Amino acid sequence: MSVHAAWLPAESFVALGSRRVLVHGDGVDTVLDEVTRACARHGGQVRRSPCGDADVDLVLALRQAVPLPVPAAQAARQAAGEPPGDEGFVLTRSGDVTVLLADTPTGLLYGLFHLVRLGAAAFTVDQPTRRHRPALRRRMLDHWDNVSVHPVMGQVERGYAGGSIFWRDGAARHDLARIREYGRLLAAVGINAISVNNVNVGPVEARLLTDRLDDVAEIADVLRPYGIRVHLSVTFAAPVVLGGLPTADPRDEQVRAWWATTTRQVYERIGDFGGYVVKADSEGQPGPFSYGRSHADGANLLAEALAPHGGVVHWRAFVYNHHQDWRDRSTDRARAAYDHFVPLDGDFRTNVVLQVKYGPVDFQPREPVSPVLAAMPATRLAMELQVTQEYTGQQRHVCYLGPWWSELLGFRPWQTPERTVADVVTELVAVSNVGDDPFWCGHPLAQANLYAFGRLAWDPRLDPTAVLDEWIDLTSPPGSTGDTGRVRATLHAIMDDSWRTYERYTAPLGVGFMVDPLRHHYGPNVDGYEYSRWGTYHFADRDGVGVDRTRATGTGYAGQYPPGWAQVYESLADCPDELLLFFHHVPYDHVLHSGSTVIQHIYDTHFTGVAQVETMRERWRQLAGLLDQALFERVAERLDEQVRSATEWRDQINTYFFRKSGVPDAHGRPIH
Ligand code: GCU
Repeated sequence: MSVHAAWLPAESFVALGSRRVLVHGDGVDTVLDEVTRACARHGGQVRRSPCGDADVDLVLALRQAVPLPVPAAQAARQAAGEPPGDEGFVLTRSGDVTVLLADTPTGLLYGLFHLVRLGAAAFTVDQPTRRHRPALRRRMLDHWDNVSVHPVMGQVERGYAGGSIFWRDGAARHDLARIREYGRLLAAVGINAISVNNVNVGPVEARLLTDRLDDVAEIADVLRPYGIRVHLSVTFAAPVVLGGLPTADPRDEQVRAWWATTTRQVYERIGDFGGYVVKADSEGQPGPFSYGRSHADGANLLAEALAPHGGVVHWRAFVYNHHQDWRDRSTDRARAAYDHFVPLDGDFRTNVVLQVKYGPVDFQPREPVSPVLAAMPATRLAMELQVTQEYTGQQRHVCYLGPWWSELLGFRPWQTPERTVADVVTELVAVSNVGDDPFWCGHPLAQANLYAFGRLAWDPRLDPTAVLDEWIDLTSPPGSTGDTGRVRATLHAIMDDSWRTYERYTAPLGVGFMVDPLRHHYGPNVDGYEYSRWGTYHFADRDGVGVDRTRATGTGYAGQYPPGWAQVYESLADCPDELLLFFHHVPYDHVLHSGSTVIQHIYDTHFTGVAQVETMRERWRQLAGLLDQALFERVAERLDEQVRSATEWRDQINTYFFRKSGVPDAHGRPIH
C-alpha cells in the first residue's frame, strides 16, 4: 500500500496548480518545486522571469527581490507595511492577481501552504492585505524513536503507528523519500523543529551525538528545505559514556570542555543544528543531582556549549520521585516540577528552554494546567503536549485532542483577560504520533491531531472545530470522494466531542491513572497503579475517592497557583467538577455543581460514553462506499475495538465503584 497523502493530496493543489504562477526571488527552490509539480498536474504554468499583470494570476515573491516584476506585486509591497518577519508572509489580492510576499524562503513556503488551505477562495475573493506570522517561535515535535529496538518499549516508545520513519533495528533507515514527505506535511502546518530520538537515551542512541552524527546530518539535509531544524536528545552522562571521562559534573572543567568540543563538531557537520533535548534525573536518566548540582547548573552547562552556535537546550521539567510509597501521603508527584524548578527561576541561561508538561502529573486526559507555567517569569518556557495518544486511546480510539489543547492554551493563570498560557510560553512542543504506518498515525483519524497541533502552535486562538474542518477539507477534497458534505458532517459528528467522550468512559472527574500497567497504559485497571511506586493514586475506599491536594488538609499543591486559582481549587464549593477528584477526597454522595452525586456521575458518564462510541461506529458505517476502501476499513476495525474497550472501561469502573460504595445506580442499569 502506498503512503497516504494525509493533508496534501494532489487534489488540494487544483486551485493553485491551474493558475499562471510567477515565483520570484533567490533560494526559493522548495516553493518552486511545489508549484512546478502542482502546475504539471493541473494544467497551470510556472514563470520565473518578470512579466506584467496580464500574464499572471499569482505572484509568490521574496519582498526584497528587486525589481518586483508585476505592478500588483509592487503595490502589495507598499501596502504590506511592517515586515512579516522570518516566518511570516503577506497575502493580498487586487484586480485579478493574488500576491504573496515573504522575507524568507520559509515564510514563502508557509504562505504557499496557506494558499493551498484557501483553495479557490484565494483567487476569487478580493482580500485586504493581511500579514500572517506564527504566535510561537518554535513549534516542535519530539520523536520518542529508538535507534535500537528497546526490549520493552520497542522501536518507538509510546508509538502506535508502526516502526520509526528514521531508524530500524539499530541503524538509520535512509528512507529519504519518506522523510521528505514528512517534511512537506510538517511545513504545511508550520512545524519548524523536530528531535529525532527518544528522551530516554540508550547506549546506541547516545552515539548519535558523535560517531553516528552522519545519520542525523542526513535527516537534517532532507528537512532543511522545509524550514525544519533538527534537534537531538542527549544523555547527561555523555562525557562519561562517550568521552571516557570519570565524571559528568557540570562544574568540572574537563566536562565543560568536552561539551564545548563535541558541540562544535556537531555544528561543523550540521550548521543549523537546533540543539539538545534533555531528560535528566527523571525515571532513571542521569542528571546533575548525582553530583550535588542543581538543574540550572546542568542545563547551563549544555547551554554554554550551544550558545556560540545559536543552539538551545530543551531541559525537561518532568522530574519527580518515582520510588514513592503509597502510604506516604505527604509526597505528591503533582508538586514535584514546581518544587524543583520554581526556585531556579532567573538562574537559567537565555538559551535554555524549560519544557513543562501541560499538567503536573503525566499527560492525562484531564489535569489542571501546570502551575510551573505561571511561576517562572524569568525563564523561557515551552509547554509539552502529547500528540501520541499514550493515555488517550493509543490511536485505537478516536480522540480528537484539538479542543483539549485549545483549553490548555487559553487557560488564564491570573484570571485576567489578557494573559493566557499561550502568551506566557514561547514555544509549543509535542511528542509525535507518527510512524512508518501507511496512514502515518495508525488510526487515520489521528492525523487530525498532528494537523491540529501544528495549526494551534502557529495560532493558539484558532477554533479547534474550524481546524478540524480545514483538515477534513484538505484530506477529502471535493472530487475525490463524492458526497463531501455528508463526509464532513459525519466526521464532525464523530470527532468534535470525541475527547470528552473518551473522558466520560475512563477515569472520572480528573482523578487520572486508572490505566492498565500490564497493557502499557491501555485499557482499564482501577487499582493498577494504586500501590505502585509511581506516585499516581486515587485513594478510593468504601467512603470516598480523590486526592486531597488542598493547603488546609492535603498536600498543599493547590497553593502552587496564583491566588485566584489557588482559592478556587482549594474550595470544595468552587472547584470545577471536571477536576474535583484531582484536588479533593470526597464521599460518594458529594453533590457536584451539575446536581448529580459523584457516584451517580460515574455511572451516568460511563453509560453515556459507551453509547456515544456505539453511535460513532454506526455513523462511520454509513460512510461505506464514500471513502477510500482501505481507509474506511482501517477506521471501522478501530471503532470495533473502541466499542469493546469503552465497554470494558465502563464495566470495570462501574463495578469497582459499586462494590466500594455499595450505592446502586439510580436508574437500575446493569452493573456487574
Ligand atoms: C511517561 C511515559 C514514558 C516517558 C515519560 C517522559 O511517563 O510513559 O514512556 O518516558 O512520560 O515523558 O519522559
